[in-house]
Amino acid sequence: MLKNLVVANWKLNPQIPEEAGHLVHQIELGLIKINRNRVETVISPPFVFLPALQHIVHFARLGVQNISAEERGPFTGEISATQVLQFRTAYVILGHSERRALGESDKLINRKILSALKYKLEPILCVGWGTKKSFSLNAIKKVIAGQLRQDLAGMNIKKLKITVAYEPVWAISRGLGTGVPVSPRHAAEIIEFIHSRLPRSRLIYGGSVTAANVKGFAAQKNIKGALVGGASLDAREFLGIVEAFSA
Ligand code: PGA
Repeated sequence: MLKNLVVANWKLNPQIPEEAGHLVHQIELGLIKINRNRVETVISPPFVFLPALQHIVHFARLGVQNISAEERGPFTGEISATQVLQFRTAYVILGHSERRALGESDKLINRKILSALKYKLEPILCVGWGTKKSFSLNAIKKVIAGQLRQDLAGMNIKKLKITVAYEPVWAISRGLGTGVPVSPRHAAEIIEFIHSRLPRSRLIYGGSVTAANVKGFAAQKNIKGALVGGASLDAREFLGIVEAFSA
């Protein structure tokens, strides 16, 4: 059976390698005590910390927050799947709302997913960008159906085994969101909808998940983990979230 997945999305944090190392060390110490049979933990730092962190992760896996759709060549500032694979990375977050807000199109996200799959980096595809708190469930489903159709174009989605994160953009803790998570029932309903399209993929929720509110999400049978931003920068908070998905 696929394990639950709890993903730390560090975003543009921390600022120095010592802090990144310390945070991973604290998380690793906590993971020793957590039953890891049912949950996998992923840490997605900024690229520059990968060379050092690859040597200190044991129980967690490493992920990245983006890759280029290109493999090599004249693409200033880009980093490819093959390059990040050198650092024992296993996952890549794609289609995050903060990157869609920078102008990443569904077409580009589709090419990035194809590149990730080619090199056996598991995509964690985020959907929910463009949705609004005031939208009805049906309107949200419509937006997400469009994202899935375009982001996964050319793939057999009935058989596809990736991770998809439902991230209602308004529920993210900082930046574009309000810091208020959706209710576990709302998340479960949208995730059920995604499940009807992608029956073999692992579906997780992201948006202001904390150690204090995680139990409600973990109690939903179809929510198989969490994508965690703000709370992943505090080892105790983050470990509380991993633990909730280990039961
Ligand atoms: P948050 O971020 O947990 O800080 O809301 C989630 C995300 O943006 O992936």
